[in-house]
Amino acid sequence: MAKITASVFTSHVPAIGAAMDLGKTQEDYWKPLFAGYEYSKQWMKDNKPDVIFLVYNDHATAFSLEMIPTFAIGTAAEFQPADEGWGPRPVPKVIGHPDLASHIAQSVIQQDFDLTIVNKMDVDHGLTVPLSLMCGELDPKKDAWPCPVIPFAVNVVQYPVPSGKRCFALGQAIRKAVESFDEDLNVHIWGTGGMSHQLQGARAGLINREWDNNWLDLMINDPVACANVPHIDYVREAGSEGIELVMWLIARGAMSDVVDGKVVGPAPTVKHRFYHVPASNTAVGHAILENA
Ligand code: DHB
Ligand code: FE
Repeated sequence: MAKITASVFTSHVPAIGAAMDLGKTQEDYWKPLFAGYEYSKQWMKDNKPDVIFLVYNDHATAFSLEMIPTFAIGTAAEFQPADEGWGPRPVPKVIGHPDLASHIAQSVIQQDFDLTIVNKMDVDHGLTVPLSLMCGELDPKKDAWPCPVIPFAVNVVQYPVPSGKRCFALGQAIRKAVESFDEDLNVHIWGTGGMSHQLQGARAGLINREWDNNWLDLMINDPVACANVPHIDYVREAGSEGIELVMWLIARGAMSDVVDGKVVGPAPTVKHRFYHVPASNTAVGHAILENA
């Protein structure tokens, strides 16, 4: 049986990827940010999963505004880093896991979540920046990411976007799907995006440390309550792009069993937690949770 043993939560700011690609990580501006991921890179080496189920959002890169799936699962054998305007990032291509991905698609759709199945897709900074943060700099000519990755894209760009509650329930369905896969696989689930940021309009540059940290407490300790936080709170308190945080609730939903609206069983262990401002115009949040 496959099992979800850990979850990783991290912001996915594109400038972080650029800082890594251009060798700027030890500059004064970036050093404190990357210091927060030193533990995480070692943890990745010590706890290498067989597969990463990586929840992120496409930023009108692969889908454009012509086609906007709410939830899309990548079932392909591989995914190329996308060209977001400056050429593709110099990082390894992403190897998928078509067998597990199609099993999850089957199971989750039968649990009444209408996923879009994507057999060809380039992956943007939403997916590659978290991989870089957790795995460090890799040379695409000779290195590979440590394991296959199933990309799972969520629309948090163009309204209407899914609620935190829907995302949390979807995480529950993904947990059941993974646990019904025959092969013994150690699966990690990642939630990316956030924390507070607004990239446009009168409130561009908005950061809300207090709200971010309270939300992180709630997400970790009372995910059912966190799932009930309405959209308007994200937008008002964490800025228009703060809504990316609902994706973290998919990963959190996959970490616990919920019966009659209550989390049952032991709480996951917090292995690491980090918060830093600024990275570009964004507050960066990061956590690693493990299940027994
Ligand atoms: C930026 C873009 C993002 O997708 C994000 O999550 C944070 C920041 C940016 O353009 O700075
Ligand atoms: Fe983003």
